[in-house]
Amino acid sequence: MYENSRLIIDSSNPPESGEIIWRSPSNIAIVKYWGKYGIQLPKNPSLSLTLASSITDTRLSYSLKAEDDAAISLDFEFQGEPNEAFAKKIVAYLESLSAVFPFLRQLDLKIESGNSFPHSAGIASSASAMSALALCLCSLEDRLFGTLQDPDTFDKKASYLARLGSGSACRSIYPYAAVWGETPSVAGSSNEYAVCVADQLHETFKDFHDDILIVSQDEKSVSSRDGHALMDGNPYAEPRYAQARTRMGLLLDAMKAGDLEAFGKIAEDEALALHALMMTSNPSYILMRPDSLAIIEKVRQYRLDTKIPLYFTLDAGPNVHLLYPGAHVQDVRAFIEQELSEHCDSGYVQQDWVGEGPEEL
Ligand code: DP6
Repeated sequence: MYENSRLIIDSSNPPESGEIIWRSPSNIAIVKYWGKYGIQLPKNPSLSLTLASSITDTRLSYSLKAEDDAAISLDFEFQGEPNEAFAKKIVAYLESLSAVFPFLRQLDLKIESGNSFPHSAGIASSASAMSALALCLCSLEDRLFGTLQDPDTFDKKASYLARLGSGSACRSIYPYAAVWGETPSVAGSSNEYAVCVADQLHETFKDFHDDILIVSQDEKSVSSRDGHALMDGNPYAEPRYAQARTRMGLLLDAMKAGDLEAFGKIAEDEALALHALMMTSNPSYILMRPDSLAIIEKVRQYRLDTKIPLYFTLDAGPNVHLLYPGAHVQDVRAFIEQELSEHCDSGYVQQDWVGEGPEEL
């Protein structure tokens, strides 16, 4: 879609060396992406809230190679240390983009990346990391060729590139909320990239919290990549995709109206549907832990007792995300402290909230 053989540096007019830094957040899906086809295309549309405090900072430094060869030249550091495993993945990713960005092979590249949260904590670090990198690459293209001046064109391309790195990352490009995947409910929606739906949100969802209860920092027994693949043999796959499509329309209606009860019901039903799909895969697996379930039960009881609109969602892991409007932050934080942090790994809670999206530093 974005292949462009003209994006080649004219070596008779070499660019100055430089650097680009982007800060990009993670996101939390309310309607979940689970199941894909082709090259990173989703089987159903998904909607996420863009977070603010769970972020990745990525610095991309570049200079023209002294000798022209066809290899990707990359020096990579994660949290200030060389990291071979990540470096390999990024080289493979950059190589896969050689028809989109042919100039990458003409440069010596250095990427330094770091997260605001522990990598192992099970917070979706691929979303913040891949979106930050995609944004750096788009800024680099624009700096070298001036081809991405229009902000919408820039965002769309960044979202497309982030998707190729990790599906959910394509939604992190936008402020407040994004939809990825074709749906009749959102004009211009696409399977290739996400679009912003901030203008469709009731104000309630712009001052909205997501406190992440870290139940376990252990590596997951089944990765998201393998989990998506297991959807192919799952007998509930087709009804699931239909369910997600229906819920997308209902969720957007609820978010436009500021209907917290309808929003919260969909959020919780989606989280449990996601984990039900894992339990009905072949082989079956369970990523929730007893503490995840204990938290869920306490949250539902708290909602009944206090009438405070506190809801949960889950990613593909044991951690529980608590969703609630900003007006209740004091009550909910006290509840977490008194009742829930005992279920967390070393009492660890990552406080987060809906944010304004990535920024260039
Ligand atoms: C459960 O985006 O991590 O968080 O495309 O293979 O990188 P890949 O998968 P990934 O899957 C995320 C799944 C999810 C739901 C969601 O974010 O929509």
